[in-house]
Amino acid sequence: MQDQFLETIKKKAYLDDVPIMKDDGIAFLLDFLREHENIRDILECGTAVGYSSIRMAQIRWDMRIDTLEIDPSMYEQAVRNIQEAGLQERIHPYLIDAASFETDTVYDLVFVDAAKSQYRRYLEHFMKNAGKGTYFVFDNLNFHGIVDDHSLSANRSTIQMVNKIRKFREDLLADERFETKFYAQTGDGIAVAQLL
Ligand SMILES: C[S@@+](CC[C@H](N)C(=O)[O-])C[C@H]1O[C@@H](n2cnc3c(N)ncnc32)[C@H](O)[C@@H]1O
Repeated sequence: MQDQFLETIKKKAYLDDVPIMKDDGIAFLLDFLREHENIRDILECGTAVGYSSIRMAQIRWDMRIDTLEIDPSMYEQAVRNIQEAGLQERIHPYLIDAASFETDTVYDLVFVDAAKSQYRRYLEHFMKNAGKGTYFVFDNLNFHGIVDDHSLSANRSTIQMVNKIRKFREDLLADERFETKFYAQTGDGIAVAQLL
């Protein structure tokens, strides 16, 4: 029943053009959570319809997820899906711009999957909610291959955005506050940065 429900969310997201995480990207993230048993408190920037937060919460019963979404219609769908999955005690969606979210919680993992041009802003904003060992995970650092091959897009604003992503990717890899690995071939390009 649960698997069928997840398939339904996924199919509806594709039909509605909601960019949920790619299959190999989500598989990577879930494997990462399985391998790191100490991860309990998670912050997700970019809920969309709740697909990735539901998948993450299913890994271990003691996981708690705060998830942030700016779009009211996405948020409403996510609230419904999370309730239908019976996970409302452990997944807490907020209708808010991720860059405005304030909490005292120190997270074990911050998963960043919201506005791609704002990744630097989210990282610096949530540094106060990270401790030694906290992981930051960033998806879409290839942006459909366009970051490394501008000829794949003729759209000027897309090119401006991918230039920002490229700069963020380079800065993150050089940032001495973190130990960072970039998985270029996974999902849409995923980086995992652990705070030292
Ligand atoms: C790629 S989707 C998230 C997919 C979701 N993590 C999944 O895999 O199931 C990105 C979402 O971030 C939301 N978003 C964009 N800018 C945001 C912001 N500043 N704060 C919070 N959410 C934002 C978008 O409305 C969109 O629903």
